[in-house]
Amino acid sequence: MAYDLVVVGSGPGGYSAAIRSAQYGLKTALIEKEPKLGGTCLHVGCVPTKALLQTAEVWDYFKNPGEQGLSCENPQLHLPNVMKRKQDIVDKHAKGITGLMRKNKIDVIAGYGKLLGGGRVEVTSPEGARVIEAKNIVIATGSEARMIPGLEPDPDFILTNVEILKLQSVPKSLLIIGAGAVGVEFASIFKRYGSEVTVLEMLPRLVPVEDEDVSKELEKAFKKAGIRIETGAKASDIQRTGTGVALNVTLANGKVEPMQAEKLLVAVGRKPNTENIGLQNVPGVQVDRGFIKVGPDQQTGEPGVYAIGDVVAGTPQLAHVATAEGMVAVAAAVGKPYTAINRNRIPGATYTEPGIGSVGLTEAQAKAAGHDVKVGKFPFLANSKASIIGHHEGFVKIVSDAKYGEILGVHIIGPHGYELIAEAVTAMEAEATVDTMINTIHAHPTLYEALGEAFNAVYGRAINF
Ligand code: NAI
Repeated sequence: MAYDLVVVGSGPGGYSAAIRSAQYGLKTALIEKEPKLGGTCLHVGCVPTKALLQTAEVWDYFKNPGEQGLSCENPQLHLPNVMKRKQDIVDKHAKGITGLMRKNKIDVIAGYGKLLGGGRVEVTSPEGARVIEAKNIVIATGSEARMIPGLEPDPDFILTNVEILKLQSVPKSLLIIGAGAVGVEFASIFKRYGSEVTVLEMLPRLVPVEDEDVSKELEKAFKKAGIRIETGAKASDIQRTGTGVALNVTLANGKVEPMQAEKLLVAVGRKPNTENIGLQNVPGVQVDRGFIKVGPDQQTGEPGVYAIGDVVAGTPQLAHVATAEGMVAVAAAVGKPYTAINRNRIPGATYTEPGIGSVGLTEAQAKAAGHDVKVGKFPFLANSKASIIGHHEGFVKIVSDAKYGEILGVHIIGPHGYELIAEAVTAMEAEATVDTMINTIHAHPTLYEALGEAFNAVYGRAINF
């Protein structure tokens, strides 16, 4: 079989690239080794975790109904039902992707894809192996959880993002190693479900990629919620005890503390799936610590071979980055205009309580880059919609350059911070200045009014604080 474009991997990067390719009129195939389309994001990442988060949010209100003048006797959280709801959402969307493939006349080829070089891809399935030919190949094979050396995940005690999504009862205690997005999101969810949660992070702060003020605020909120946090901590001697997990933790002060928990979640990053996909057959493809190097057109060093998503070197492992890179790769493959990915315009979205949304430079990065930095900050405490919904932790922080009011970065931690960041991303993409945003009328009462106020705060002119 010969195709104009073949995509290996059906995550949000891969399936979206296949659709865009078909929209351009290319004969397109999508190779996927799993029985269902959608990849990590849909099956064991973004979508199921946010379904669990939604239940945590509703459950929060149930736990404290009196706050809103309600009463409710003996509310219960049934984890099997919560997990079923999550799975129904996932299954619905997996079916949706299959439908989209049919609608766009994309051939879905079930099996494991491997590059053979010379525009050929081998697909192996239980039915055997076949070779397909492709003028263009898009590698979108994604990533999997990195493990601490010497540890193997299992369904009962040592979990990754995959196993934790199958739990049928709320663990009494949950130890989490790693305070990146995966670690803090599960900490936030399971604390609210009723687990005793401890987070161990080797760096000095939670969510280390975020602005320092955001890390501090999250730590404050987590501690208030009763989550134990140990930063600058190192876990060792991790062992299964039969009923849970035991380990030693070297704390920041140098003391060693033995800890035990019913479950351990390892959330120490993700490694790209590039080891066994035949890269040795395409010598032009250059790899840096497993990640594939690409140009602004997402093309590797091998003409006609593109890479997108979690396998790519130099861009964060986020679903929306994969999709955006897919659009670039396909446009470049057919000679259409495209806008290369700009790292500074990629929104980050971390679904904790309070939620985090960020884009652009942190204050420290802006200073390090030599900007004359002016910061505007506005707390949700002074936002009436935040009071109405009963979540008024956090703030909006604008990082700008004093000279022309250029917006360098926006950092939000607060109610639905991951949604509110949209305005900031649009503003930066449109190259709006602080003044443009001050002149932008924000509806009242809304959470996003806090952005308008924070832009005013750059000039010390916030009204409500
Ligand atoms: P990560 O790389 O974001 O964070 C891992 C954390 O673990 C780091 O802070 C690191 O310092 C720490 N760490 C590593 N080894 C350690 C050790 N031995 N002991 C203690 N701490 C240790 O990785 P994570 O959270 O697993 O996420 C993987 C990828 O998936 C990231 O790129 C993330 O952005 C993405 N993701 C994004 C989400 C979102 O945007 N909402 C949700 C989940 C994942």
